[in-house]
Amino acid sequence: MNFHVLTLFPEMIRQGMNTSIIGRAIAGGLLSVDSVNIRDFAFNKHQKVDDYPYGGGAGMLMQAEPVYLAWESIKEKIGYKPRVIYLTPQGKVFNQKMAKEFAAEKDLVFLCGHYEGIDERVLEEVVTDYVSIGDYVLTGGELPAMVMMDSISRMVPGVLTNKESGETESFSENLLEYPQYSRPEEWHGKKVPPVLMSGHHANIEAWRREQSVLRTAKWRPDLLKNADLTNKEWNQVRQWKKQWREENSKE
Ligand code: 6GU
Repeated sequence: MNFHVLTLFPEMIRQGMNTSIIGRAIAGGLLSVDSVNIRDFAFNKHQKVDDYPYGGGAGMLMQAEPVYLAWESIKEKIGYKPRVIYLTPQGKVFNQKMAKEFAAEKDLVFLCGHYEGIDERVLEEVVTDYVSIGDYVLTGGELPAMVMMDSISRMVPGVLTNKESGETESFSENLLEYPQYSRPEEWHGKKVPPVLMSGHHANIEAWRREQSVLRTAKWRPDLLKNADLTNKEWNQVRQWKKQWREENSKE
């Protein structure tokens, strides 16, 4: 997977993408991250990339031409028109399914806006996907681009080792992950759940499954409607919910 990031802050991307699992995957040749400074494509005296919006209003806009030329430089380098993701709070909210889908591309371009946004005309010409990372406002698209690259990268074959592998983890089945424990056996007076010390694998799996369902019901009940629960599990969820309602009404 080759990521290309169109940004006014290439250093932010370079600094953010050279550590841990992503850094290892880049060193191993499974990923590349190419930051393209949009300002390098502003061919005017002061390398200006922004201007006032027609019609008035707050702040400045990124102009169309430098963004277009920066995009063209990538298109020419790779020899085809790649998918271009514009990071914007107005986009479709990113999720695990989209991460898997994007991970199948050979190249992905992230266009990071700043100021009040980018001239609409260049967006119409180059952007294929409008994506947000959630319902809150950030100052620019760099952090969202890094969030997406991180989550897309771990879906690229070979990036995670078998041990790190994302099969039984949060969201893979619309269930949250079960709690985990390591040494020591007792910490701050809290013991590791005895079933995990039992060596009984079927019981351990059953306990973990129950904990996943319990956590999802408690913290992300919205996910449950797309989770594949048994009838027995649905009944258990109803019972827990009834119990929580009773506890709440006592307070
Ligand atoms: Cl993709 N960009 C900005 N500026 N703010 C955001 C966002 C993106 N996603 C959530 N908030």
